[in-house]
Amino acid sequence: MKEINSMDLVLAGRSVNESFARVSVAAFLAQLDPTLQEIAEVKTIVSEAVTNSIVHGYAEKKGSVQIKVRLYENNRVRITIRDKGKGIEDITQAMQPCFTTGGEERAGMGFSIMQSFSDRFRVRSVPGKGTTVIVDKYIGQPTDNGK
Ligand SMILES: Nc1ncnc2c1ncn2[C@@H]1O[C@H](COP(=O)(O)OP(=O)(O)OP(=O)(O)O)[C@@H](O)[C@H]1O
Ligand SMILES: [Mg+2]
Repeated sequence: MKEINSMDLVLAGRSVNESFARVSVAAFLAQLDPTLQEIAEVKTIVSEAVTNSIVHGYAEKKGSVQIKVRLYENNRVRITIRDKGKGIEDITQAMQPCFTTGGEERAGMGFSIMQSFSDRFRVRSVPGKGTTVIVDKYIGQPTDNGK
């Protein structure tokens, strides 16, 4: 899988930076000539993942959120969002629709939404060490149907 282009962004885990992260990733992907729907989906994925890092990961201690975007052949995109926050004890449970540790104000739908907009979606987490979300998504037409 040949890497064609890349972008790395490190932001303080503060909610004011969530919109910057979302818009930056969308702007970087403009070179692939995405549809409005694809851009909306990418923005939502980034927004949900960065919000999770800030709200859940860094609930107790502060830290940074790292966002990596990699473009590969055939319009394949990988977006990785990582924090060094508190981590997730049970990833399977956390990924269930409506599961939340955030109380009344959270719907517990972030992971489900991210998954539905991704071609492949993975979460890696180590309690006490942090969480990484890895999203693979085709943007535009894969030139050879992804084969
Ligand atoms: N980066 C993270 N660090 C620590 N815990 C996380 C992280 N991301 C998710 N979680 C845990 O996984 C649960 C489910 O996350 P999800 O995004 O699906 O729902 P939510 O954030 O609780 O609600 P919503 O996204 O609908 O506002 C969270 O409640 C939290 O316990
Ligand atoms: Mg969430």
